Amino acid sequence: MRRRLRWRRRQMVLAVSACALVFAVATRAQQAPAPANLVPVAASSLLLRPEAYLNQTVSVFGTVEQLLSATAFSMDQDAKKAAMTDLLIVAPTLTAQPAPGSYMTVVGEVIRFDPAEIQKLAKDYTLDLPANTAARYRGQVMVLATSVVDPGMNDLAKPVPVPLTPAEEAFDKVMKQVNPTAAELRSGVTASDVKVVQEQAPVLGKLFAEARAFFADRGTTDAVAWAAEGVALAAAIEKDATDNRWSDARESTTKLTALCQSCHAAHRERQPDGTFRVKK
Ligand code: HEC
Repeated sequence: MRRRLRWRRRQMVLAVSACALVFAVATRAQQAPAPANLVPVAASSLLLRPEAYLNQTVSVFGTVEQLLSATAFSMDQDAKKAAMTDLLIVAPTLTAQPAPGSYMTVVGEVIRFDPAEIQKLAKDYTLDLPANTAARYRGQVMVLATSVVDPGMNDLAKPVPVPLTPAEEAFDKVMKQVNPTAAELRSGVTASDVKVVQEQAPVLGKLFAEARAFFADRGTTDAVAWAAEGVALAAAIEKDATDNRWSDARESTTKLTALCQSCHAAHRERQPDGTFRVKK
């Protein structure tokens, strides 16, 4: 009877962890496709058969043993089995430390601990393990985590967006205006409506001039050139429309659209929450 109860409890914990995982993966799916072959495994099983999981993306579940640094902790050491080691988890984007003894679901890649390898896989990250701790885990199997989901289903490794600078904020507003202005200009050109073109083209030209100044301040040469081309195209479209050269105006409008794409491909970055920002 007791055994049955314990088994039930285990099943419940497993069910909860499965939910947490689906949640984490669903959240992540917005920024990158979830790995198709995510292997679920208990931390203790992974430690028993490390070779079976090496270089795979796994979801490991177990309890937090010890906090090792701001971005690293260990899982599931069994004090009674002296020979058994614990599992090192390094989560480069960890923003809050998990509570020791709490039950976690960690998603990440199983590798052998090697600071050089971690540096290669997580380029913007600096490993912060104390030297003696690093020495203890060297060569052992570990998980380089992208998600650390706690029992409250919070992903403690979800990257926190860096706030926009005032200049970036102002530029974001410019782009939010560029979009409807360019759309109206385009429909004005399509309809050969000179009044709409004369209204919208100067507005777009002014917005691109602001974009040009923004990129000039950052020293982004190619973007300055694209923005300047935008200023010139807006003026050309207005002039061609005024002088009734609609096929020229259409040609410039097509170039304008290509301009948006060139600059976005080079300098626009989609954030995990779906918003955009300027690439660093
Ligand atoms: C010189 C470079 C450049 C050009 C040209 C450019 N953009 Fe952008 N745009 C950016 C960058 C960088 C971002 C990301 C910054 C941001 O959104 O805060 C952006 C963001 C945007 C956004 C997202 C705004 C938001 O945050 O919701 C829209 C929409 C947009 N651009 C439309 C356009 C259109 C339409 C054109 C062409 C008519 C255009 N852009 C031309 C650089 C450019």
